[in-house]
Amino acid sequence: MEAKTDFLIFFVNGEKVIEKEPDPTCTLLHYLRSKLHLTGSKNVCGEGGCGACTVMISKYDDENNSILHYSVNACLTPVCSVHGLAVTTTEGIGSLRTRLHPVQEQIAKHHGSQCGFCTPGMVMSMYALLRNNTQPSMIEIEKYLEGNLCRCTGYRPILEGYRTFSKESCAMGDNCCKNQTENKLKDEKKENYSPPYDPTQEPIFPPDLKANYSAYNNKSLLFENNGVRWYRPVTLTELIELKHQYPHSKIIIGNTEVGIETRYKKMKYHVLIHTCNIRELNNITYTDDGIKIGSSVTLSQVEVVLQQAIHNSSDEICRVFKAVVEMLKWFAGKQIRNAACIGGNIMTASPISDLNPIFQACTAVLEVVSKGNSMRKMTLDGNFFQGYRQTIIQPTEVLLSLTIPYTNKNEYFEGYKQAIRKDDDIAIVNAGMRVVFEPESDVIKELHLSYGGMAPTTVMAKNTMQKLVGRKWENNLVPAACQYLEEDLPLDPGAPGGIVEYRKTLTTSFFFKFYLTVTQQLYNKGITQENTIPRSHLSAIETRELGPSKGSQVYELVGAAQKDDNPIGRPVVHSSAYQHATGEAVFVDDMLTLKGELFVSPVYSSRPHATLINVDTSAALQIPGVKGYICYKDVPGSNHIDISDEQLFAVEEVTCVGCLIGAVVATSAPIAREASRSIKIDYKDLPAILTIEDAIENNSYLSKSPVYHSGDVNKGFEECEQVLEGEVYMGAQEHFYLETQSSIAVPKERDEMDLFSAGQFPGGIQESVAKTLDIPFNKVKCVVKRLGGGFGGKEVQSIPTALMAAVAAKKYNLPMRCCLERDDDIVMTGTRHPITAKYKVGFSSEGRISSLDLNIYANCGNAPDVSYAIMGAILIKCDNAYKIPNFRVTGHLCKTNIRSNTAMRAAGSIQAMFIIETVLQHVIDQLGVEPTKVRELNFYKVGDRTHVNQIIKDCNIQSCWEECLNHSDYYNRKTQVHQFNRDNRWRKRGISIVPLKYGISFEVIQLNQAGALVNIYTDGSVLISHGGVEMGQGLHIKMIQVASASLGISSDRIHISESSTNIVPNAPPSAASVSSDLNGMAIKIACETLSKRLEPYKNEKGSSWNDWVKKAYEDRVSLSATGFYKAPDLGPDPATNSENKFMYYTYGAGCSEVEVDCLTGDHTVIRTDIVFDVGTSLNPAIDIGQIEGAFMMGYGLYMLENFKISPNGKVLTQGPGNYKIPAISNIPKQFNVSLLKGKPNDRAVYSSKAIGEPPLLLSVSVFLATKSAIMAARHETGRRGYFRLDSPATPDKIRMQCQDEFTKQFPVAEEGTYTPWFIKL
Ligand SMILES: Cc1cc2nc3c(=O)[nH]c(=O)nc-3n(C[C@H](O)[C@H](O)[C@H](O)COP(=O)(O)OP(=O)(O)OC[C@H]3O[C@@H](n4cnc5c(N)ncnc54)[C@H](O)[C@@H]3O)c2cc1C
Ligand code: FES
Ligand code: FES
Repeated sequence: MEAKTDFLIFFVNGEKVIEKEPDPTCTLLHYLRSKLHLTGSKNVCGEGGCGACTVMISKYDDENNSILHYSVNACLTPVCSVHGLAVTTTEGIGSLRTRLHPVQEQIAKHHGSQCGFCTPGMVMSMYALLRNNTQPSMIEIEKYLEGNLCRCTGYRPILEGYRTFSKESCAMGDNCCKNQTENKLKDEKKENYSPPYDPTQEPIFPPDLKANYSAYNNKSLLFENNGVRWYRPVTLTELIELKHQYPHSKIIIGNTEVGIETRYKKMKYHVLIHTCNIRELNNITYTDDGIKIGSSVTLSQVEVVLQQAIHNSSDEICRVFKAVVEMLKWFAGKQIRNAACIGGNIMTASPISDLNPIFQACTAVLEVVSKGNSMRKMTLDGNFFQGYRQTIIQPTEVLLSLTIPYTNKNEYFEGYKQAIRKDDDIAIVNAGMRVVFEPESDVIKELHLSYGGMAPTTVMAKNTMQKLVGRKWENNLVPAACQYLEEDLPLDPGAPGGIVEYRKTLTTSFFFKFYLTVTQQLYNKGITQENTIPRSHLSAIETRELGPSKGSQVYELVGAAQKDDNPIGRPVVHSSAYQHATGEAVFVDDMLTLKGELFVSPVYSSRPHATLINVDTSAALQIPGVKGYICYKDVPGSNHIDISDEQLFAVEEVTCVGCLIGAVVATSAPIAREASRSIKIDYKDLPAILTIEDAIENNSYLSKSPVYHSGDVNKGFEECEQVLEGEVYMGAQEHFYLETQSSIAVPKERDEMDLFSAGQFPGGIQESVAKTLDIPFNKVKCVVKRLGGGFGGKEVQSIPTALMAAVAAKKYNLPMRCCLERDDDIVMTGTRHPITAKYKVGFSSEGRISSLDLNIYANCGNAPDVSYAIMGAILIKCDNAYKIPNFRVTGHLCKTNIRSNTAMRAAGSIQAMFIIETVLQHVIDQLGVEPTKVRELNFYKVGDRTHVNQIIKDCNIQSCWEECLNHSDYYNRKTQVHQFNRDNRWRKRGISIVPLKYGISFEVIQLNQAGALVNIYTDGSVLISHGGVEMGQGLHIKMIQVASASLGISSDRIHISESSTNIVPNAPPSAASVSSDLNGMAIKIACETLSKRLEPYKNEKGSSWNDWVKKAYEDRVSLSATGFYKAPDLGPDPATNSENKFMYYTYGAGCSEVEVDCLTGDHTVIRTDIVFDVGTSLNPAIDIGQIEGAFMMGYGLYMLENFKISPNGKVLTQGPGNYKIPAISNIPKQFNVSLLKGKPNDRAVYSSKAIGEPPLLLSVSVFLATKSAIMAARHETGRRGYFRLDSPATPDKIRMQCQDEFTKQFPVAEEGTYTPWFIKL
């Protein structure tokens, strides 16, 4: 092969790109964003786990003379791999400047975009699907979008938007008769797009790529840059030669494994060989033994080929194919399957590979070649994997193909996988199982059991396999198999991955499922005469397809008297929705770089508590492109962040993993990151306190314990009929906003500093930058255009990123960009506070609670941050909707050596809800009575005082509750659930309904204020500025609606550009759900002032808004007004001797039904009904979007999201690969939301109510329904009454609490006898 390097040529959105010096380490995403300035595709995780970077690749298939289109993750696609291909990004399919593509329009119009950070990725996934299938089914759409995460919307509106393209949609579009019965949330302003989608309107494939196919594809290539070589051989001989020459080179197809190794595991490879164009590696042939698949064939292609084979052949011969296809359903997202190849999965030899257990159990045959040796064949058997990520294939060898064998009629095969999140998640345990019987009998001739997740490699349960051969396939096989499997698959209690008992239980539970499946098949074929499986046990193996998700959204239409151009109460689309969809919305890291701009990457502690001995920056500073290093010595002012009460840069001691030590400044983000990783830090470890238990033991608290009490708790206990005590724990939750913490600092003249930040608290950033740089506040301007999600995590924890940029900008007098990578963001920022609650409750035999004593311990981490306020919220909200006459609640703020925990959507409130509902449930379980009766018995009534002495004035608990009971048909469905549970041994259902009361206001009274500035320009257009920040919650559109109604002009004439501290000063953070209440009032006041000023000009007949403005201007009337609002009546009320902690309360009720697989712990939310009180909704689409999104975030907290820290303080869940937020498959199969009607709120703007946080709390209904399903499972083995269930109820907890003969075999190892993989914080 020639040693000269080639040009990289490809097309992006129809334009030819010629790169003369391609960098083999550069990803397509980096290239698009940095070189081509196409910033629509977002960088969220860099590990293929979120889909925000999705683009479409098109290539010409010369054999079939067709064009192939497929979606990929640009963050894992090496730019060098797209030579000769066409790339399409969201910018390429439509824009606001030209015309919108229907895929962009539909997601925007149906409110499928909130913060908008996930939206371009969603658009491109859907677009790629439509390019392959112009009318997909809803199930296909859901499957296609599995690899795209959204943290805001709860996915329902995205699916709703894309329903228009589906088979299920009607040709009448939104005018379909089915839509007439409900209030459909569509944008009233935009014309509705009518399907069918017309593919002929799409851009054509670049003719150059087709005409010159051979030149692009049949020529060997070499790219070299920075000491890394990228070879693209086109013949097998060339490839073999290269592998011989460079045995330690990496073959690249999808780069989904190598990409992770180089980015996150610090691996460096100097020779990369791209094998996509080698025919022998891409062949698929039918042989006498099975289907032979070339090693470079992608997983999506494998899926198609095997599906065709299944379709065309008899069931008996396709059993392995079926298992592979079934497994691929759960394997990653579509983008990964489109890129990753089958050989890559085998050769990576991951112990949790999903395919290797199947290939091992079916003894697939591999072909390998190397230089000088003829091709050799081997079976992928028990000897194939030699150790952790090692196989018997030699470094100089190339894997050519794999043959997946046919099965015969006496042979049965199944594959199993269990993960935390069913879709797009890596396995906890998986398995391939194959049994061959003696002809026409049930006597085992061969048995192959292969497991993943039970050892450093995929392993076979050899002993079990041998011992069971010759035995009959009958019930007594199961206990024997379980015994042998235990011996075959030992796991140390502290084994990597943890949850060891669960993993062991899965091995036997899977076998039991296999046993039942095969037994059923033997019976169906007449091989066994007697059906030994009771009907109810079939539930272990029956999979019910529940179809695509569906739901309804019901709200009150505006009255007929309301003027058409008054937008209050109408479902107007988010003000940036269309820019989100087209990629035109500019987030911090999308801003064009300024002249001289440099990049900042953090350096932080890897120890939880230690003295800093030495920080050696010498190696980092040698790296070309590195400009320098900053630390506390470079801080001109205070190194202490007052708002969170912590140090910016550590000086002598680090107090958590993630504690900031310094930062590297370099000419590019990748160089800065590489250099920050090269800094060597010497520590002297100090004792670390990580958990609540450690803190209690060491008496480590941030402050004295705050207490609230009402009545006489002790007397209450003495006088009540029953008393119970208990304890419960709720884990942490990572915010997982899609846009990471980001700031750009721009130094100006005379010490001025401009900050462009993704922060919820611009005023906090301004104050902190000023103090850090030792300049007055008036020299710092913080501008926030929009956030790609915040959820409380960018309230105070956006400050360090801004400060790093500002300190560096000051030192080098150049603009600085500091946008954290996902793993840095997760490690450096805190989470929702984990809590332990200890309770003692006194109650009557009917369930009336008379006395409650709560002690709540929160793991606050290494600094106060906003922990006092959060503990305050827990303490004052832990009554929920219940009047408890004697109540004492004490908070304990544990100071530990983990990263300081912080605000997160419904901070404190959700912990409070969890605690009180757990207490109620304990009482209910103890009494064995209908849960709704106990809850109702304790409801607050108008006039009651809460335990913090606030009088309940307007109480809508009962209205929401009754409506929810009706809508959900609770009592009938509960009867059905009981019947289901009687009929099914291994699947159980539960249903639960909960009420909600939620107090609205900042706990710190002074924060309940807002300012606004409204400018009318002489063309009649209006610009509003207010103190709130748009982070996806639809604040700006609501504020525009308020201004439109107040000024009496169409909302099209009103604009909000950004939030800035030099326009509206001293604003509180956008938090606590009060932003629209406070800012809305401030805007209304300013607009009323302006309206009054325009009054004299309005009388002239036939005159318009523009005339009034013109006249007023000519009269030299100010067309600019400020508005200021302070929430009234907060604090003590001497007249009633009460305390107004909140402006008002908002109410709701939620009912959920859940089905649990008792053998694996999997669950499905079958249905959720929510009734919510938003007063008179300002914008029902935004409000319903907030309800659905918040509910799904709460669902994640309760059911999926397990933030893990190792015993030495290391964060184990640093990205979407191992931290699982809800995906599209998690939404309730039926999700109905309705807004409570006829309950205006006279305490907030236009009678509305706050919405951002409260609905999150209703997700506890899913947790309680799950608990109820587990309880039904426990009844099967005679276990009755209360049991403790901590949050999150991940599959391991569900499975182990179901308790049966399989769990009994694996008791939990005694604490203290081993070092666990992760700890309970
Ligand atoms: C977000 C995400 C989700 C994932 N989910 C899953 C999942 O659910 N289940 C699962 O099992 N895995 C999963 N993976 C792992 C990964 O996708 C698979 O292992 C994939 O099959 C690797 O294929 P690739 O083409 O991307 O490999 P690459 O990264 O391109 O290569 C992987 C390795 O294979 C070697 N190799 C490739 N071809 C040959 C050959 N012909 N001869 C010799 N060596 C060869 C390479 O040298 C390299 O070492 C996931 C990965 C990501 C990033
Ligand atoms: S950024 Fe590419 S998948 Fe997340
Ligand atoms: S809109 Fe999907 S992440 Fe924000």
